[in-house]
Amino acid sequence: MREKLVVGNWKMHGNRDQVNRLVEEIIAGAAETESKVEIGICPTYIHLEQAAKLLIAANIGISLGAQNVCFAEQGAFTGEVAAAMLAELGVTFVIVGHSERREIFGETNELIAAKFKVVQAHNMVPILCIGESLEQREQGATEQVVISQLDAVIGDVGLPSLHDAVIAYEPIWAIGTGKTATPEQAQEVHWTIRDHLARQDAAVAAAVRILYGGSVKSSNARELFNQADIDGGLVGGASLEAEEFLSICKSAD
Ligand code: PGA
Repeated sequence: MREKLVVGNWKMHGNRDQVNRLVEEIIAGAAETESKVEIGICPTYIHLEQAAKLLIAANIGISLGAQNVCFAEQGAFTGEVAAAMLAELGVTFVIVGHSERREIFGETNELIAAKFKVVQAHNMVPILCIGESLEQREQGATEQVVISQLDAVIGDVGLPSLHDAVIAYEPIWAIGTGKTATPEQAQEVHWTIRDHLARQDAAVAAAVRILYGGSVKSSNARELFNQADIDGGLVGGASLEAEEFLSICKSAD
């Protein structure tokens, strides 16, 4: 049985005080519930260390994630952060291939595969984001787009690497727009992804967690998370408010 996972992607939000407050509120709220859902939070690089200190002191099993990583181990890469540096801080998840990185920063499948690899090399779990644009959906190309994004990484890292990874299906048209995929639309793509993996390796397909992302909120989370192939969520905007985020986490129980 796959354990449900809900990860907050805080993107480029917050200052030191706000981050302390948000982490403390999430810790306090999570401590009160008997929830079995695994929870992760991904602050900016600069706020990782303070979040790590609070999470370690609380010791209630909330994981720390990073939003990005450099493909290289170390060296002359101005402005970049290495996987070893993240691992040293206690980071366990790293988001790779978010559509904002693909679209705004021009990240290619090749680069994303290299990031995926370096994350696993440091014993952290990559959260590989894939998803189609509105135009691609309207052209009926959703399946082809997500499978080709997935295959590009599998071709490089090898299918067995997916066993210990997380996939996030995030339709671009649903990110930050308030427009959520319906549970049926999301389940259809999640099933397609899992079925594609199952044809190659049933054990990998059964093990890999596939999160849904794109305007998840407390009002739609339960229905989404109840779908057979949706193993939790990657939550942006709604993860910046502790009560709302915790309510989403509870929906995964
Ligand atoms: P959103 O973002 O929940 O604000 O739509 C999700 C994401 O980008 O991971």
